[in-house]
Amino acid sequence: MSNSYSFEVINIKGKAYIRTYGCQQNFADSEKICGILTLLGYTIVYNDDDVDLMIFNTCAIRENAKDRIFGNIGALKHKKLKNPKLRIVICGCLTQQRDIAEKVKKTFPFVDLILGTNQLNSLPELLAGLFNGSKHGVILSDEDEPIAENLPVVRDSKYKANISIMYGCDNYCTYCIVPYVRGRERSRSAAKIMEEVKSFYYEGCREFLLLGQNVNSYGKGTDVNFNRLINYIDNIPGDFIINFMTSHPKDLTKELIDTIADSKKISYRLHLPVQSGSDRILEAMNRGYTRREYLELINYAKSRIPGLSLTTDIIVGFPGEDYADFSETISLMKEARFDSAYTFIYSKRPGTKAAELPDYVSEEQKSIWFRELLSVQSKIGEAALNGYVGQTLRIFCTGKGRSDEKLLTGKSRNGFIVDFPGNDEKIGSFVNIKIIRALNWALIGEEIK
Ligand code: SAH
Ligand code: SF4
Ligand code: F3S
Repeated sequence: MSNSYSFEVINIKGKAYIRTYGCQQNFADSEKICGILTLLGYTIVYNDDDVDLMIFNTCAIRENAKDRIFGNIGALKHKKLKNPKLRIVICGCLTQQRDIAEKVKKTFPFVDLILGTNQLNSLPELLAGLFNGSKHGVILSDEDEPIAENLPVVRDSKYKANISIMYGCDNYCTYCIVPYVRGRERSRSAAKIMEEVKSFYYEGCREFLLLGQNVNSYGKGTDVNFNRLINYIDNIPGDFIINFMTSHPKDLTKELIDTIADSKKISYRLHLPVQSGSDRILEAMNRGYTRREYLELINYAKSRIPGLSLTTDIIVGFPGEDYADFSETISLMKEARFDSAYTFIYSKRPGTKAAELPDYVSEEQKSIWFRELLSVQSKIGEAALNGYVGQTLRIFCTGKGRSDEKLLTGKSRNGFIVDFPGNDEKIGSFVNIKIIRALNWALIGEEIK
């Protein structure tokens, strides 16, 4: 934990539990919330029984995420009845929407504090006040706060660090709620980011995940763009892996692909959401690239980066999408041969442009398309994993196996999960593993000395 944040330690002796929904950015925010809570004297626990403080850090990306969170908040009522001293805080993207924050307040009066996404700076005071008995109701800031620097952080893993390099998004893809709940695009200073990488490396961390909704527009208008930033980090002495997400095809340059290809430590996994294979739909989504441009970009990346692993996000059933558009997405998938794809059925987000568009395709029909997409992708993904059997991959080992507790687990430079037998002393180091078989989501191998 870095402790340069000067906040009066009031030494609360209580247990705090935090549940995080949504993307890596939210997880990174939660690590900061845990840092603040620890500084206040709370002990962070991973089981929600008998705790003094519960925080839900929420997500608004799709309707089903919202429904699930509402269900989970409702279930807290009996906990509060059993333990009136329990304090409950709901924060994050869902409650950044004022109408939803008000609805949470009305529907769940036992919730003590409702916050949005832009309040990390004031969080220590707000949480301390809560402990002292003040009941705040809803506190949302409509302005984008300046970036909160030097907040303490308690990382989930000793070996992996999430580093937010920018906040917010200015792209306004027509289906997406993020620009409305995360505010305008703001980049951190390169010096602060480098400082953080170095200090976490010193603490034993070997895998860094640089985070932003569109990392390729980092530092726009300044003299340190993303390409330069990642080049600087690559040149920091030491053996480590630099991951980054998310890239946007309209802003990913050939120059950046060259930087990755020529780097020592930048990950060979590229997560490049395509969303659709149809130009008509890409335009309606306001994505800013065509199918041909996307394919050209990935073909260039594949030709420059040996062992590149490509992953993507796809939305099925955007308003106005017909079977011909959907077929274009299927054909793009077959052409791009993604190692994996996160696939979603379009979910209408009130307040976005796409929510105003007429939508003629039934949910039932969309589900049929969705299943077709999954089955095409699963065959491609399976073939990709099987292609690694017999190869040797350099793995950074981060802990116990996911397929089996008796195994260890780690990731290759191109982002594949690899489980293998070994002693715990390997955790936190790089090992060479010969792949002996493929599961449908990971590889299994043996160490070669
Ligand atoms: N900034 C990133 C990711 C944002 S959210 C990017 O631009 O790629 C992660 C994914 O959720 C998106 O890539 C998209 O595929 C999906 N998504 C976002 N809004 C959605 C919606 N309204 N319905 C369905 N999927 C959505
Ligand atoms: Fe949403 Fe588009 Fe921004 Fe990604 S780039 S967060 S999909 S608006
Ligand atoms: Fe969800 Fe907010 Fe992330 S809406 S996906 S938690 S930026």
